[in-house]
Amino acid sequence: MIDANAISDLCQKAIDMRSESYAPYSNFLVGSALLTSDGKVFTGCNVENSAFGPSICAERTAIVKAVSSGSRDFAAIAIAGGKRDGELQYCAPCGVCRQVMREFCRPDFKIYLAKSAGDYQEYTLAELLPESFGPENLD
Ligand code: THU
Repeated sequence: MIDANAISDLCQKAIDMRSESYAPYSNFLVGSALLTSDGKVFTGCNVENSAFGPSICAERTAIVKAVSSGSRDFAAIAIAGGKRDGELQYCAPCGVCRQVMREFCRPDFKIYLAKSAGDYQEYTLAELLPESFGPENLD
């Protein structure tokens, strides 16, 4: 169980990370904050590319930062996205990011779509990626 203050902190960190977003092509700024099971937070933002294909989402940025820093056990992620000059949306992770979460996260991994520290939708990975393919399939 993640307490309400920790969820709010995570949502606020995701919102703050939008200021680091590099999104000159879409002008859609996304921040993320990934909570590890031992209480660390890794943040991310989307980083676009003029060739478009190499662009990376905020969620994968945070996951790659965490894994490359030695953390692989995750409890939750907060995501905050919206147009540069618009209001925040309940911004759901793309299919590629859901599959990357599937690699490292349990079905009850929490995904918070944040409009503010106190206004967010909560899902689990199993809800957003049902009937999924994962590492166990290759055992
Ligand atoms: N994007 C994310 O970073 N995360 C999401 O959950 C949805 C989309 C980014 C990718 C691209 O830089 C921009 O938002 C528009 O698709």
